[in-house]
Amino acid sequence: MPSQSASVDPSNVQGLVFEPYRYRLSRYLLFALPSDEGARAFVRELLPRITHGAVDFVSVPPFLCNIAFSVGGLRQLDLSEEVIEALDPMFQEGPNPDPVGDVKGSRSDPVNWWEKQFGTEQIHCFVQLHSKDATVLDGATGEVLDLAAHHGVTELLPRREPDHQGSYRLNGQSLIGGQPQALGQTSIRGRVHFGYIDGFSRPNVSWSDEPSAGQLHYRHLLLGYSTPEVFSAPRTGRASDLFRDSSYMLLRWLYQDVAAFNRFLEEAAPKIAPRLSPDEAKELLAAKLMGRWRNGTPLALSSDRPVENFSNDFAYQTQDSQEWKCPFSAHIRVTNPRDQPLNSILAPEGVPGVIRRGIPYGPEMAPGQITDDGIDRGIFGLFLCANIRRQFYTLTHWVAENSFSPIFKGEKPPEDAPFGNRNNSATSHNFLIPQADGNVALELPDLVHTKGTAFFLLPSMSALKALTL
Ligand code: HEM
Repeated sequence: MPSQSASVDPSNVQGLVFEPYRYRLSRYLLFALPSDEGARAFVRELLPRITHGAVDFVSVPPFLCNIAFSVGGLRQLDLSEEVIEALDPMFQEGPNPDPVGDVKGSRSDPVNWWEKQFGTEQIHCFVQLHSKDATVLDGATGEVLDLAAHHGVTELLPRREPDHQGSYRLNGQSLIGGQPQALGQTSIRGRVHFGYIDGFSRPNVSWSDEPSAGQLHYRHLLLGYSTPEVFSAPRTGRASDLFRDSSYMLLRWLYQDVAAFNRFLEEAAPKIAPRLSPDEAKELLAAKLMGRWRNGTPLALSSDRPVENFSNDFAYQTQDSQEWKCPFSAHIRVTNPRDQPLNSILAPEGVPGVIRRGIPYGPEMAPGQITDDGIDRGIFGLFLCANIRRQFYTLTHWVAENSFSPIFKGEKPPEDAPFGNRNNSATSHNFLIPQADGNVALELPDLVHTKGTAFFLLPSMSALKALTL
């Protein structure tokens, strides 16, 4: 959270911008708003429940609540077209499957999103509830749904079939086995399906006006602070005043095929490490895919084994320019290439910073299981930024196609090793791992697909109030 000397008032910003919540359970509710006073009345009544950044976590609120709107939602709230036109054109347009790598005809094709229960443009409002207690979460859900029913707001249920708990909603749950999610801890880490602990690299946000090297300046996160160097829309005028301290929040519902991941490890690991035991070889391949061992140790710092204590301070070009330790297409080397040279056309402004939030969903699969159980599991990814094209789309494009740096050679660019879409005909689906006795190229299976994407504006508290007048 910003310090007292910071330039941003935390009580005007929705809380999840500052840090991930340490609650084990999340429920994401999607709504279509009516085109009458009911839309504003719904939001007005939710206002006192919305968690802002100055909330007193010592008194442990039983649940946390945040609210965001799509461009269609802002229209239902009667926001003028003049103001809407001043917002980020990418937000106005809504998710574009090309830069997010959701290839037409593949399982990630937008025609399949939301399990075909509704179209993305029907989503107006996104309410997130977080709690550590299932009964409290159900109670909070009941409150929100009662308000919705009272004001003619329609809940959109994104599942054709119920999930493993019989629910048609998006229910997230931290996976056990990461580090504890207790309140008051300074670092919050949980595991994702595929077994990696997440949460080591978080942008260090500078909340003061003094620019500082290595930090993500709050102007790249909050709207209304554009400068000639920082282009976030709206840049000036009424829209800029209205939405100061708001962010864009982009939701990706991503399925993870854990059985396929385990099969890949089992089948391909002996090819990269024939002299290691099968289990050690699988762990090494898992680390090569992510760029971190499953406990988080960066390969760039320890390439032959995970260690207990490690820092997040390392570089690639100076420490591993030949990718002996960490392959170029490993996930964290693609999404944060650090000091690597970048292609000046595709990455004119360097490595984009975004804030990552979200939570895994679905039950954990038994370690090493190679047959699918048909249960839906994966991650609800939330990305916060102030400029969708320069930040979010740049990153998703890098994941889809590794052509952002001159280090990538060959006829077709490769893609992010674990999370690329294998139906992309413009990319190579081989994962190159340099070894002392020659390169190994592994053919990558499809490990994830997109089940839904929606773009929201996460209004500041003052913007929320103004929207309900
Ligand atoms: C199923 C999908 C995904 C999973 C399970 C996943 C998981 C992970 C994990 C385990 C880490 C390493 C933890 C850490 O460094 O703190 C990570 C890092 C990261 N991921 Fe993903 N990720 C997914 C998709 C994406 C996508 C699509 C993007 C791009 C928009 C993305 C952006 C990032 C970024 C920016 C980092 C931090 C890299 C760094 O600073 O070192 N991830 N992800």
